[in-house]
Amino acid sequence: MEEFKGNTQLKVPTHVSIIMDGNGRWAKLRGKERVYGHANGVESVRACVEAAVENGVRYLSLFAFSEENWGRPAEEVNTLMGLMFKAIANEIEALRKQRVRFRVLGDYSRLDPSLADAIRAAEVSTVPAAGEEPVLDLIIFLSYSGKWDILQAAKRLAADYKDDPAALDKVGPEEFAGKLVTAGIPDPDLIIRTSGESRISNYLLWQAAYSEFLFVDTLWPDFRKNEFRSALEEYSKRDRRYGKVK
Ligand code: FPP
Repeated sequence: MEEFKGNTQLKVPTHVSIIMDGNGRWAKLRGKERVYGHANGVESVRACVEAAVENGVRYLSLFAFSEENWGRPAEEVNTLMGLMFKAIANEIEALRKQRVRFRVLGDYSRLDPSLADAIRAAEVSTVPAAGEEPVLDLIIFLSYSGKWDILQAAKRLAADYKDDPAALDKVGPEEFAGKLVTAGIPDPDLIIRTSGESRISNYLLWQAAYSEFLFVDTLWPDFRKNEFRSALEEYSKRDRRYGKVK
């Protein structure tokens, strides 16, 4: 644990987001079923939460299940949802004690109602007491896609303005962002994708406008504290200009 502490040189990103990829390949390399990879991927989630807290990252978000993932075989979908259920049952109390706020963002209408209820209860139980700030916001994107998010935001905005559509002209990016499911959460500074794929795969399309991207070959079940720390070191070297000159 000690080796992750005390480096004052690092420029620490406020929000790190991870596209967790490569569980299936990790399992296949070991001659196992894909679900074995997902189960080991949960260990990486735990390690990254710890590493985020140790390094002073304020928001950690993870792409756990995309809208497109509903198209996977039912057995795999059930396993992933089961892992989510199990993680909530086993981990929420520890997260609450560490003052980690747990949130799940995505299209709840597609989730099994009992899972949706368990998620909401877990979210409520980790809301900090009045006047207290969480150490970390852990955000899980589940049944999420960037296009879905933009579309639901546009629909909600249109509904708000239905009696005065001409006023839509004045809507700016900040008001629009307030309708995304990520409202109030700073955009990710760093988006990491594991497993050697270099794609955004319909993830945070709006929110990634100025994110730094890091594509690493490591398969998700092997992405642990050292890999997280290396990603922060790589981010530290980046020169962010936001379209301007320095
Ligand atoms: C990508 O690997 C991974 C996923 C689609 C699921 C990620 C889920 C977990 C790590 C477990 C549940 C999460 C939480 C937060 C408890 P892949 O299956 O696409 O791998 P492949 O590209 O090698 O096939």
